[in-house]
Amino acid sequence: MATANNPRKILVTSALPYANGSIHLGHLVEYIQTDIWVRFHKMQGHQVHYVCADDTHGTPIMLRAEKEGITPETLIANVHKEHSADFSEFLVQFDNYYSTNAPENKELSQSIYKKLKAAGKISTKTIEQFYDPVKNMFLPDRFIKGECPKCHAKDQYGDSCEVCGATYNPTELINAYSAVSGAAPVRKETEHYFFKLSECEQFLKDWTRSGTLQGEAANKMGEWFENGLNDWDISRDAPYFGFEIPDAPGKYFYVWLDAPIGYMASFKKLCAENHPSGDENQKSGLNFDEYWAKDSQTELYHFIGKDILYFHALFWPATLEFSGHRKPTQIFAHGFLTVNGEKMSKSRGTFVTARSYLDHIKNPEYLRYYYAAKLNSTMEDIDLNLEDFVARVNSDLVGKYINIASRTAGFINKRFEGQLNPSANNTVVSEIKASANVIAESYTAREYGKALREIMRLADLANGFVADKAPWVMAKQEGQDAVLQEVCSDALEMFRLLTLYLKPVLPKLAGEIEQFLNIAPLSWDAVATSLLSQHRINAYEHLITRVDGKQIEAMTEANKENLQATPTLTPAPHSQQRHAEHQQAASAEAAEAEYISIDDFTKVDLRIAKIVNAEHVEGAEKLLKLSLDIGEDKPRQVFAGIKSAYDPATLIGRLTVMVANLAPRKMKFGMSEGMVLAASDERGGPFILSPDVGAAAGMKVK
Ligand code: 2FM
Ligand code: ZN
Repeated sequence: MATANNPRKILVTSALPYANGSIHLGHLVEYIQTDIWVRFHKMQGHQVHYVCADDTHGTPIMLRAEKEGITPETLIANVHKEHSADFSEFLVQFDNYYSTNAPENKELSQSIYKKLKAAGKISTKTIEQFYDPVKNMFLPDRFIKGECPKCHAKDQYGDSCEVCGATYNPTELINAYSAVSGAAPVRKETEHYFFKLSECEQFLKDWTRSGTLQGEAANKMGEWFENGLNDWDISRDAPYFGFEIPDAPGKYFYVWLDAPIGYMASFKKLCAENHPSGDENQKSGLNFDEYWAKDSQTELYHFIGKDILYFHALFWPATLEFSGHRKPTQIFAHGFLTVNGEKMSKSRGTFVTARSYLDHIKNPEYLRYYYAAKLNSTMEDIDLNLEDFVARVNSDLVGKYINIASRTAGFINKRFEGQLNPSANNTVVSEIKASANVIAESYTAREYGKALREIMRLADLANGFVADKAPWVMAKQEGQDAVLQEVCSDALEMFRLLTLYLKPVLPKLAGEIEQFLNIAPLSWDAVATSLLSQHRINAYEHLITRVDGKQIEAMTEANKENLQATPTLTPAPHSQQRHAEHQQAASAEAAEAEYISIDDFTKVDLRIAKIVNAEHVEGAEKLLKLSLDIGEDKPRQVFAGIKSAYDPATLIGRLTVMVANLAPRKMKFGMSEGMVLAASDERGGPFILSPDVGAAAGMKVK
């Protein structure tokens, strides 16, 4: 058990973003999630080091640099600057943000490889691969395109079809061509290096059982074990941007071999910087081996997206184990981001880069707060609902939290020269203090949504206290000065405690509030302290403004892209970034498949219908029989699957919307002459539609 004198030593990582694309809102889910966890643990007094780096190697980066007429080194240096600025403005505070194309990473990758080889875990095999005879290079599956063998959509990738979703081998593509040169690829033999993962199964099974993974992730591992583990192809042929394999001229480490080693390299660099002599192996300061040696007593946590679990839960622990290193303490996998319930999309303007968010919404802490409110410890996807974002930020942060200070600080500043005089015993203050452990446990368990719900419950209590005492009334009354000062001081103490609880999520705002309250930076143990009488606060200045729905509109408008835009080459598979960019390319390429024309739409004859009768149907479990007046001679008979949600008596006389030109269908209980529209998903339903006042039976809906 760690104590104040003996803090836990914790190393934390987030997945390394590829150096060929911008940071977007999808990436930020992970970096914000990790940063909150790190900040919380630092506030608890533990020794926490948070490292990350750009993932710089591989074919997509090499080709993009070539296309831009620059060297890969220049490209990755530019991207490093851009990523670093984005992270810092979103208050993601790495202790070191490095690059996988660094000398430390080269040395570590090569030495780990040599150890794996000495342990008998490396083999070679001659395999056949697609080769671009014009470009003289082997082609990864993603760089071979052609016609989908299933739906015949043109220009599909070598591994899966974006239009019909089929997966296949590149050999099955019709009229395959190289996405690099356009030439028809040929098959060519080449020798590849493999890591014998198939021999690591028992070790990995034991490791999985040791509680290092979330339940869902452990289940996924179970499926992989059932299918049997294949040896892992860790080499790529020149030309390739990466590290050469020792004693294997022309062969390079596959990007995924040296990427996670980048976690170690970034930490190694931090050790060297931390140590005055620059020697990371000394026993004072940060010591690399203390964190990475096989018998390390420190803790190691990797935050990742669920799409790269395979790499982190199979390849990575096996690589560490058989090269004589420690294994991760835990792997925390999270889900993907959806925006307004759908995949991020360029056509809808919801594929938003970090920079574009900053340009339009300005305040990064709104997004940190919103994500935190949605995050939990599972691998479920989280949704950024843009309307809800505006409502929640305004109501929680401005309406509840900041409101406590804005309604009370002015009196302390103007009437008491900033001096406080809190009561000795305020029950709301005590209740807020009593929640410290519950909130701490929620942060520890990555149940941020739960933590914030509790904090907002406490903010409601504080607001209730202020509303109840109504200092603005006291301020107008004679002889109420002492109690006015006490009430406002107590409210500011509540505000201080809420600020402490919110600090992992809102570090910048907390810093401004510490300044306003004239207190030292809040650590978690400051829960046990209080603002004392005689303490003077500084002048209250406006701390936060409401977010306006128009800012959101402007942001999505600015991100809407012409669907005919040329899709970019997608990077390596199985990546969180690919998840998003894959969608980008897909949305452009599959645009025509996703959309219907206005002519298609007008084919559907939607009408306002008056429900003149509704009744149960004998023997039907789900159906109600409706008679719908749409201004025709006689009402239409429609069977609608809404019995679970409606009592027929309540429907009679209502207006709703129906499809009037659906071909009549003979059902078990009679003819159905149209369809009633209703909304539903896992949250509930069906809910039928109601038009606004003024609509009448028979009106066309268009
Ligand atoms: O999926 C990705 O975006 C990869 N660049 C993540 C690498 S994480 C680590 F293993 F390096
Ligand atoms: Zn297809």
